[in-house]
Amino acid sequence: MGLLEGQRAVITGGGSGIGRATARRMTDEGALVAVIDINGDAAHEVAAEIGGTAYVADVTDADGLRGAVDAAATAMGGITIMFNNAGVGSQSPLHEWAPEEWDHLLAVNLTGVYLGFRAAIPHIRASGGGSIVSTASISGTRPASGEAPYAAAKAGVAAITASAALEYGPEIRVNAVSPGMILTALTEPLLQFLPHEQARFERTTPLGRIGQPDDIADVVVFLCSNLARFITGQNIVVDGGMTLHGSGVDGIFEQVFRR
Ligand SMILES: NC(=O)c1ccc[n+]([C@@H]2O[C@H](COP(=O)([O-])OP(=O)(O)OC[C@H]3O[C@@H](n4cnc5c(N)ncnc54)[C@H](O)[C@@H]3O)[C@@H](O)[C@H]2O)c1
Repeated sequence: MGLLEGQRAVITGGGSGIGRATARRMTDEGALVAVIDINGDAAHEVAAEIGGTAYVADVTDADGLRGAVDAAATAMGGITIMFNNAGVGSQSPLHEWAPEEWDHLLAVNLTGVYLGFRAAIPHIRASGGGSIVSTASISGTRPASGEAPYAAAKAGVAAITASAALEYGPEIRVNAVSPGMILTALTEPLLQFLPHEQARFERTTPLGRIGQPDDIADVVVFLCSNLARFITGQNIVVDGGMTLHGSGVDGIFEQVFRR
């Protein structure tokens, strides 16, 4: 029996990368899955692969997202899992962000998560409870330069997660996952543009590699399963240990003792 047997899941940003991998993994574990994405072709492709349903919606559009979630609930006979995963990234010096671009990053990465909660909670309650997971990022707790609105939004996702866990327990468990560097359409251009960075990421990550979408999908499945029945309000870092570095003397030991 699968870990998510009988569950009915909605995934935003399910057309690519982490969302797509999670759609597959949840299906493998016995869940019915509805894929929501702004990219209709991608959503339909994934839904066809997994025998699920696809809905085209922009997570920043409150009515559009609610309509898609309502339709998914009707098609699946309710919702027990919501994975708020759609996200976009970009970089710029802080004072050079165009206000519209700043607003867009906040709208997709932060408000889009709130709107996912808003749309899904009535359905999860009507189904007798369940689990909500949102995709934050290591950028939310350990921001890099150039990504202020993305980092602020992802820090906000962790905050929404904690607040909602307090509000909706015990019926609904609420958690976040914070991926490190994961190879998806979001990061591929960066790694192609700066190929030497790939080797640096691999060298400085204790687990020795860049992550794959399945590395995150497995944790999301775990968080939505009964194995995580006493976990709520947490922001689980899944980065191969990449963000453990930080001391000013970091790296000295390796140079002195492991030459
Ligand atoms: N890849 C990484 O290294 C990494 C690291 C930390 C966090 N994340 C987060 O993981 C999540 C998934 O990203 P990914 O790496 O799989 O990227 P991806 O680009 O492969 O997938 C993102 C998906 O979200 C969809 N999307 C974008 N804007 C949308 C909107 N307004 N409405 C609905 N759908 C929308 C895209 O069409 C795409 O299918 C994002 O929230 C991202 O911020 C990724």
